[in-house]
Amino acid sequence: MRFRLIPLIFLVCFSSLPANATPQPNPAARTAEAEITAKVQALLARMTLSEKIGQLNFPSLAFPFEAQLAEVRQGRVGNMLNVVNPDHLKAFKEAAAASRLKVPMLFAIDAIHAFRITFPVPIAWAATWNPPLAERAAEAIATETAQNGINLTFAPMIDISRDPRWGRVIEGAGEDPFLGAAFAAARVKGYRAGGLATSAKHFVGYGAPEGGRDYNGAQISDAELFDRYLPPFQAAIAAGSETIMASFNTVNGVPVTANRPLITDVLKERLGFPGLVMSDFVAITELINHGVADDLADAARKALHAGIDLDMASGAYARTLEAGVADGRVATAEIDAAVRRVLAVKYRMGLFPDSPVGVRTRASPMAESDVRTRAREVARESFVLLKNDGAALPIAPQSGTVALIGAAALSTNDHSWYGPAGLTKPATETLRAALEARVGSGQKLLFAEAFADPCGLSFKNKDEAIATAKAADLIVLALSEDCTFSGEGTSRVDLGLSGVQGELFDALAELGKPLVLVIETGRPLAIEEVAAKASAVLIAWHPGTEGRTALAEILAGAIAPSGKLPMTFPRSVGQIPIAYNDLPTSRPAKGDRYTTGYIDEPWTPLYPFGHGLSYTTFAYSGLGLSAPDMTRNGRIEVRVDVTNTGSRAGQEVVQLYTRQLVAERSRPVRELKGFEKISLAPGTRRTVRFWLNARDLAYHDDEGRPVIEPGTFRLFVGGSSAAELAGSFEITE
Ligand code: BGC
Repeated sequence: MRFRLIPLIFLVCFSSLPANATPQPNPAARTAEAEITAKVQALLARMTLSEKIGQLNFPSLAFPFEAQLAEVRQGRVGNMLNVVNPDHLKAFKEAAAASRLKVPMLFAIDAIHAFRITFPVPIAWAATWNPPLAERAAEAIATETAQNGINLTFAPMIDISRDPRWGRVIEGAGEDPFLGAAFAAARVKGYRAGGLATSAKHFVGYGAPEGGRDYNGAQISDAELFDRYLPPFQAAIAAGSETIMASFNTVNGVPVTANRPLITDVLKERLGFPGLVMSDFVAITELINHGVADDLADAARKALHAGIDLDMASGAYARTLEAGVADGRVATAEIDAAVRRVLAVKYRMGLFPDSPVGVRTRASPMAESDVRTRAREVARESFVLLKNDGAALPIAPQSGTVALIGAAALSTNDHSWYGPAGLTKPATETLRAALEARVGSGQKLLFAEAFADPCGLSFKNKDEAIATAKAADLIVLALSEDCTFSGEGTSRVDLGLSGVQGELFDALAELGKPLVLVIETGRPLAIEEVAAKASAVLIAWHPGTEGRTALAEILAGAIAPSGKLPMTFPRSVGQIPIAYNDLPTSRPAKGDRYTTGYIDEPWTPLYPFGHGLSYTTFAYSGLGLSAPDMTRNGRIEVRVDVTNTGSRAGQEVVQLYTRQLVAERSRPVRELKGFEKISLAPGTRRTVRFWLNARDLAYHDDEGRPVIEPGTFRLFVGGSSAAELAGSFEITE
């Protein structure tokens, strides 16, 4: 990796960011920054070495915590994670106020998609393709969290991943850098608006572990790093993320936690990130496991040198840096640089009484009903209807008897494994209760639990389930992989239906009745055979506190589905890694031997990125461009007419993709460059317009420099990455 500081001319044409994403500090912000720099400098000058190291120390709450309180009073612990109880928070705040320099503390938790009310999991937010919804969701979660006294969330997770074996795809926005950047910005803005600072994570390449195995190393070329993995981080920085978390993994053999070219040269200097970089949980100690450090002192020295400002939970800085300075192995200047960043962030967050700016907690809490409304809105728009043969959905009045089958329909599990423990769980409707309340008068809802657990690891009563289904006109089978099958440390090789769910599905499919499959999942699944036999497949993700109510609204037809896949659904695990934006090859896949596919399975995915049906249909026509070409500084307007050709209202995500036909390096066969979610009444038409800036069509060279190469581009507009309506334009010299 050979990163150098590069001329500004290159920096102004970063690709893949929304046009408005470049940070442009206004004069007032510049003045505030200058004031903060001066205050930080003055404070730093008053600090002892021990107090400085205390600011870099970020332990997790440990019971009993009297010893930690004492350390806070001595200035040796400046921040803490996992303090949730308001009494505990108060005790720590008072301890900080009683310390010599009274430096306020960072209090952080993983408020990812929940504090008390659980929102759908983040991949579901991305499936809405509606970033303003994500912003409102993050704001609501942050408001609940900040009201409790916490000031920082370990979110958003913005790792791009093309590998659904990796369990943490549940926390991100999927496979695409453009969509990922849009959601990264929205989530950062939302959390900040709700009164929390953010920690965009995990920098970088954590979503690209070899084999999909969590914590495994990633091999990423520099061009790919800039094209694919950095755009969400650039967007998060532009949206004001105060902190960024480094990832556990190696990139090209060097752990990120000890990787100065990545943390200092790329993140802090090239991307201009002004905030603080924290390690992930115990990641500094784990440098020893990586085989790049002899002991804790060596690990601490390497992490600090790389540019890790805050040591999360390993205690390595607290235990070794003072001795490192004494024996000359640790440079005081590196400690000072880290402390400056930590203090500046605390000023920017408004934690000091004399902070000139700051993220402020709302004066009054948000009403629970408002938080629930926002959670319901996200859920409603996140469900993805993959298939709907014979208009099996919505449940029609003529389906006199509907059989709802599956223990998942009794579940109130909200999958908020990162939500703080110990809070009263809010009332959560089950799918069974929600659907019962919504089936039409004259309709009957039968129910059979079938399984002993929500994710169908074993049967409770298979025969009863089959008998119930036999008595119905329509079968709705509610399945789930909700057994901590997704999330951190949950890589899987089997992405089929878990447990005995497939066995019941096969038995029900044999009945020959319309069979609707509703699947709660945190990742794309490989369900080709099941999808082929089902009449309809609805992906519900893990939908949270309001989720099953929203699901019943969709099934009963009160609302039409409008979600689109943020990640490709593969046919089989053997196709992974799979994504829509691959590079072309010498022998592009055609399904024949000697082309880039498989001899035992089609090369196409089961469902492509961007796919999702509604209860109505949309037609695309009238693709037009404001000009046939543009210069490297130019832009072109693309317009397309979208018509609702069905008989009910619906929402459509209009997607714009481009492909550069010839360049110095192979360019992806398609790249998302714009999207807009619109609502259309039946029979109506709307013209949707996108601005395509030449700078958004740049790619990066081997040194990570953006290149805008003249040439011909194809563009495609439609309702998925398989869009067929196409045009062309040129970028001229
Ligand atoms: C995860 C982070 C998380 C941290 C603190 C780590 O294991 O990788 O995403 O924020 O724990 O809970």
